[in-house]
Amino acid sequence: MMGTSVGILGTGKYVPERRLTNKELEQMVETNEEWIVSRTGIRERRIAESSQATSDLAYEASIRALEAAGITADQLDLIVVATITPDMFFPSTACILQEKLGAKKAAAFDLSAACSGFIYGLANAAGFIATGMYRYVLVVGAECLSRITDYTDRNTCILFGDGAGAVVLGEVPEGRGFKSFKLGADGAGGDLLRICGGGSRVPSTEQSVTERRHFIEMNGRDVFKFAVRVMGSAAEEALAAAGIDKADIDLLIPHQANIRIIQSALERLDLPEEKAAINLDRYGNMSSASIPVALAEAVEEGRVSEGDRLVLVGFGGGLTWGASVLVW
Ligand code: COA
Repeated sequence: MMGTSVGILGTGKYVPERRLTNKELEQMVETNEEWIVSRTGIRERRIAESSQATSDLAYEASIRALEAAGITADQLDLIVVATITPDMFFPSTACILQEKLGAKKAAAFDLSAACSGFIYGLANAAGFIATGMYRYVLVVGAECLSRITDYTDRNTCILFGDGAGAVVLGEVPEGRGFKSFKLGADGAGGDLLRICGGGSRVPSTEQSVTERRHFIEMNGRDVFKFAVRVMGSAAEEALAAAGIDKADIDLLIPHQANIRIIQSALERLDLPEEKAAINLDRYGNMSSASIPVALAEAVEEGRVSEGDRLVLVGFGGGLTWGASVLVW
C-alpha cells in the first residue's frame, strides 16, 4: 500500500462508570428488555457524568494509548479526534485534548464521518506517516452520545452510549501494519441519520429546541439495510486490496450498532462469532468510539497476537463507511 509500514503502537479505552440498563429504559419509554435484547443485542450502555465532555473521555483513553505505545504526549506530531459530539463547535475537541495532554508540538483537528470516523481517522493518520510528514499520530474516537440522544424517542434512545478509544500510530517493521483502507460515502442517504439543529441550515432557536431538532433523527430500517450491505462489501473490498483471503482473518472488529448487523457481516465473510470482537451488549453504539474501544479490549484480553490479520469495518451517518485490513 505504501512505502513506510505504518501500524498501531498502542491502544487505550475509557468508558464512564454510570450504566443505563434496559430496565431503566422501560421506565423512560414504551419498550421492554426482551425487545431491546432480541432486536439489537444491547443490554446496557455507559453514560458520562454531567461534568464530563467528550474531550475528558478522549483524554482518559489517550493517556492509556500513549502509555501502551511507550511514548510521551510531547512526541506526538498530530492529534485526530473523530467525533459527532465535540465539546463545542470550535475550538476542535482535538485542540482541547492537545492542551489537556500537553502535546505541545502536535497539530490537531477533528474529523466528521460519524460512526466511520475512526477508520477515516486511521486512514488519514497512516497517510501522514507513510509520506514521512509525521512520526507519531494519535487517533481518537470519542463520543458523548447521551447529549444528543432523545430519551423520549424509543427508536433511538435504546441504542446509544458514551465512551472513547484511542490509538497511537507510527512506523512498524516491514510486513506488519495497515495493508489497505477502503473509505466510502453516499450523501444521497444523508437524511437517514442526522441532527439538523444547531448548524447553519437550522440555527439554534427556541423553536429548534422545542421541535427537538438537536437530537439524532434516524430511519432505523433503511440504515439497517444499508449497514448489512456495506459491512460485507467494504470488508471484502479491503481484503481484496490487501491480498488477504477472508479465511485468513483472525479477528473482525466491526462497528457496534446492532448484533444482527454484525451477524450478517460474519455470515458474508464465513466467520464464526468467536472471530469478532463484540461489546455492544455492554456499551451499545458509541459511534466513532465503538471500534477503538473494541480493539483496545481485544488487546487487553490477549486476543491479538503478533502477525494476526485484523479487519476493521464500520458504517454510519453521511452515509459513510470504511474498512481496513492490518497485520498486528
Ligand atoms: N421497543 C419496543 N418496540 C420498538 C422499539 C423499542 N425500543 N423501537 C421500535 N419499536 C417498534 C416499532 O415501532 C415497530 O412497531 P410497528 O411495527 O408497530 O411500527 C416495531 O418495533 C418494529 O420496528 P422496526 O423499526 O422494523 O424494528 P427493527 O427490527 O428494524 O429494529 C432498530 C429497529 C432501530 C433496532 C434497527 O432497525 C436498527 O438497528 N437499525 C440500524 C440503526 C443503526 O445502526 N443506527 C446507527 C448507525 S451508526
